[in-house]
Amino acid sequence: MNHPSTLATPPPTGSGRAGPAPRLSTRVDQLHGSVIDSSTSLLASQTHDIVRFAMGAPNAELIPEADFARLFSTPAAGRFDYGATEGEPALIRELTAMLARQGAASDPGRILITTGGMQGLDIAFKLLIDAGDTVVVEAPTYTNGIGTAQSYQARILEAPVDEHGMIVEDLPRLVAEHGRTPKAIYTVPNFQNPSGTTMSLERRRELLRLAEEWDAVIIDDDPYGMLRFEGEDVPGFVALSPGNPRIIQVRTFSKVLAPGLRIGWLDLDPGLRRLAINAKQSMDTCTSVPMQHVVADYLGEGALDAHVARLRGVYRERKRALRSSLDELFGGEVDATDPEGGFFLWLTLRGRYAEVDAEALFPTALRHGVAYIPGPAFTASGTFRDALRLCFATSSPARIHEGATRLRAALDEAVRAGGGGSR
Ligand SMILES: Cc1ncc(COP(=O)(O)O)c(C=O)c1O
Repeated sequence: MNHPSTLATPPPTGSGRAGPAPRLSTRVDQLHGSVIDSSTSLLASQTHDIVRFAMGAPNAELIPEADFARLFSTPAAGRFDYGATEGEPALIRELTAMLARQGAASDPGRILITTGGMQGLDIAFKLLIDAGDTVVVEAPTYTNGIGTAQSYQARILEAPVDEHGMIVEDLPRLVAEHGRTPKAIYTVPNFQNPSGTTMSLERRRELLRLAEEWDAVIIDDDPYGMLRFEGEDVPGFVALSPGNPRIIQVRTFSKVLAPGLRIGWLDLDPGLRRLAINAKQSMDTCTSVPMQHVVADYLGEGALDAHVARLRGVYRERKRALRSSLDELFGGEVDATDPEGGFFLWLTLRGRYAEVDAEALFPTALRHGVAYIPGPAFTASGTFRDALRLCFATSSPARIHEGATRLRAALDEAVRAGGGGSR
């Protein structure tokens, strides 16, 4: 076994040459790096068996790799040329047909194909944020998302989350205490990353009202919406307020097809889309053309609906396996959310584990052969030291039980040590 490590972002190593450091922009102070992304390389460097509850990624057996390989080998002229910045017409056509089937009708004039959901977030915040502008975010939240807002020097205002998503009723008080109205409100309304919770209909309505009152834009980041495996659909912001230019939807195929494709899209007001295209032209010209065609061809074959239906069944089984392993192994010593879709469950340590620091525990857990993402990775303020995110999407029910058993062994060791791994 090699040495377990932590998930902290390593300090810059420099150029290795003697001499003065180059003069950098003030913006670099706002480039925080991602603990979540760093877990990929950290885990790749480990050689022992690890149950992976860390990265929010589907396992290889849930990715239609054989279909992609076949579609990649289909010769087609022009697929290796530059493409239109807004996206390949074939993909936009298939995508709007898919959205219509899902009852979320859009229009090609609202769609911009992006290099994953992350680029959609980057473009959205680039259009909206000047240095010092306030962005309301959930706490906990997907910190890679707010990292893009911070890279444009946004001020972050955290709004707590409960089992019905962001506590929208608290927002007027939080904003009054903060002293400035927000320019943008960033939310993951469905099966939130990391808490797994879904924002209630009443709160969605109230958030739309507040956005109007504050002249703010809602950035509706929805990678997991197609993956509901229990309960009833809750209408989205666009369904509640069709044509509202204050809603920017950020979507991606990363969670329903494959993250390595890096294919996502923005669905936004046509006027804003023109500006979003300008922004993308100064980033990467266009999203990878061959990748767009693979996704367009896959959608064109009509395979997506059956694939997503299969994923829903698999993730339902895995979520239930994790919940029952946690019940069996931890009893009342943890609180776990009960997501109705998506990839993640949020665990808060209670009882004799309440004093364990989830970040300090990480090397111990890795040594026991289980990986997760510690709670502080999901806030700008570094809170939630007593919590962790578990991704149930990657492992089979048997492996999930094994992972929960290892997690319990790591927690017991931390409690016995009374210091190592404890606050
Ligand atoms: C809430 C949320 N938004 C955006 C993304 C980024 O998606 P992509 O991998 O397509 O860039 C993720 C991925 O984990 C996510 O969970």
